[in-house]
Amino acid sequence: MCGIFAYLNYQVPRTRREILEILLKGLHRLEYRGYDSAGVGIDAGNGKDWESNAKSIHLIKQSGKVKALDEEINKQHDMDLDVEFDVHVGIAHTRWATHGVPSPVNSHPHRSDKTNEFIVIHNGIITNYKDLRKFLESKGYEFESETDTESIAKLVKYMFDNRESDDISFATLVERVIQQLEGAFALVFKSVHYPGEAVGTRRGSPLLMGVRSDHKLSSDHIPVLYRSTTKDKKGCTALPRMDQDTCLFPVDQKSVEYYFASDASAVIEHTNRVIFLEDDDVAAVVEGRLSIHRIKRTAGDYPARAIQTLQMELQQIMKGNYSSFMQKEIFEQPESVVNTMRGRINFNDNTVILGGLKDHIKEIQRCRRLILIACGTSYHAGVATRQVLEELTELPVMVELASDFLDRNTPVFRDDVCFFISQSGETADSLMALRYCKERGALTVGVTNTVGSSISRETDCGVHINAGPEIGVASTKAYTSQFVALIMFALLMCDDRISMQPRRREIIQGLRVLPDLIKEVLSLDDEIQKLAEELYQQKSVLIMGRGYHYATCLEGALKIKEITYMHSEGILAGELKHGPLALVDKLMPVIMIIMRDHTYTKCQNALQQIVARQGRPIVICDKDDYETAKCSSRTIKVPHCVDCLQGVLSVIPLQLLSFHLAVLRGFDVDCPRNLAKSVTVE
Ligand code: F6R
Repeated sequence: MCGIFAYLNYQVPRTRREILEILLKGLHRLEYRGYDSAGVGIDAGNGKDWESNAKSIHLIKQSGKVKALDEEINKQHDMDLDVEFDVHVGIAHTRWATHGVPSPVNSHPHRSDKTNEFIVIHNGIITNYKDLRKFLESKGYEFESETDTESIAKLVKYMFDNRESDDISFATLVERVIQQLEGAFALVFKSVHYPGEAVGTRRGSPLLMGVRSDHKLSSDHIPVLYRSTTKDKKGCTALPRMDQDTCLFPVDQKSVEYYFASDASAVIEHTNRVIFLEDDDVAAVVEGRLSIHRIKRTAGDYPARAIQTLQMELQQIMKGNYSSFMQKEIFEQPESVVNTMRGRINFNDNTVILGGLKDHIKEIQRCRRLILIACGTSYHAGVATRQVLEELTELPVMVELASDFLDRNTPVFRDDVCFFISQSGETADSLMALRYCKERGALTVGVTNTVGSSISRETDCGVHINAGPEIGVASTKAYTSQFVALIMFALLMCDDRISMQPRRREIIQGLRVLPDLIKEVLSLDDEIQKLAEELYQQKSVLIMGRGYHYATCLEGALKIKEITYMHSEGILAGELKHGPLALVDKLMPVIMIIMRDHTYTKCQNALQQIVARQGRPIVICDKDDYETAKCSSRTIKVPHCVDCLQGVLSVIPLQLLSFHLAVLRGFDVDCPRNLAKSVTVE
């Protein structure tokens, strides 16, 4: 939730116009994380000298999307856009409201006081903000917003006002601030007292830094500086001095640009060199030099941060000819599933290799049960593959919603293997569940789409689904890639079981043809658009199926709910007569999924029950299933595939349907109201 972005140019002259463009572009890329208000903080002065310009800060904030902020900036007629800064720090934020309604005053950056001495942008939730606020109010600090973040802005000023010496560094102040914070945060600070400096830190919410310079980096790592444990006369602990060994660049380097961002999509057009910050890292840029500090070294700390080269290309995060990211991502699925399988399946000898699991696969094979833990769509990927996992691993498989799993204090044992399925790799509930399972000694496995994400870093091992950046808030290609990744895992688990070989071969050959079959389903787009034209004014849609397709019903209903705001329910067809049948009449739109698998006859019974109540079901079925077609008011015919993979094909018509319904109802497909792509709050 919330996107944070900051840009620092050091000895790279930039006009204010250019700086604002960079900040706004960064926010546009992060808008999927929240879009109910946005804001920027930049240097206010219009003079020639950047240091005096940096002595006051200008905040511009606006409710609504980044576009509204852009328009607000254009109204600031007294701001000279051509003034040039050799050195400048700009910070920017796009918000998904947690505390306080969307409004300019609740938008970020938040400030320490009316003169904007310190400003901060935040992603996450501070759980002890009420106590902090009470304390700071008792000290005379006046609050103006309803947010948790404002306490941070006031707290940093409190630390500054109560500093023991004048030469205290910005990083030290921030270190002191984060020691008082509880909850989750990624933060970037800017201050009139530290011109040309920026400090970023995180705990629980993602934050990375991009580095751009014509200079060659001195190293592909930056060492972490640990605060000395000995105190000086004033009772302070010192940080080691920066020197050639602790700098990214040769000491005589002159020009460099830094970016702080919630994720890589916001920096990729500027640089592919990034550093993923760890929890409690404090990253400070002073005179163009970056240093990463930690208060103390703890067991297991790696004392350096790698400068990684991103493989992502800008084109991957652009919409191209599609009207929305969601539409693009739906149509990317023939390639994204290939990317999930690339280099991992040999279709000639039916072998599967998952490099990220190779050191742990024996241990996984010996485990007592598998627990798949996730939220939303990622949870549905677990539901979709549970049956084949049970079949091929012969282990009990539990599929859990992360929030409920935690609420129940679910017993977890050392011989359990816990999977965390997450597109973003940052979902707070899943991350909390991961830490819970680790504490209990279970082996943890990540199935994520985001390299460097918290889940991928904190799990013992894992599989990257390699679906490419997913920007549309409604998840589509990540679901089908998670599905395929989990199937590959199931295949790997039984690769030495002779009795399983015919079934393994059947599934692997099914995976081989899957991309072409997905293309065939996508060619139904026009037909599905026509169906959407018939349905878009309805209030409700029921989606029914069973067996392998129950997950498709849940996922289809979630897609419809989240982007069309219509009511939709995924119903297990076996439960129909236990209640939901009462909803059926000749007006209620019902979609049924009936495929030729072991549940076919039972699904036919459910179809009859619907028809007998004057229901007029729309059926997604196999393309040669004339039997089912006879009893349906309309059919969407999809190609046949091996039973356990059929769910990849049956979900696509529902992805397309939800997309067309949302367009016809006039909604913003990529940015559904009240939602955000990455849910980094519990
Ligand atoms: C729905 C959707 C959400 C996410 C859920 C978990 O389209 O995208 O339900 O699936 O918030 O997110 P990740 O997979 O990032 O953990």
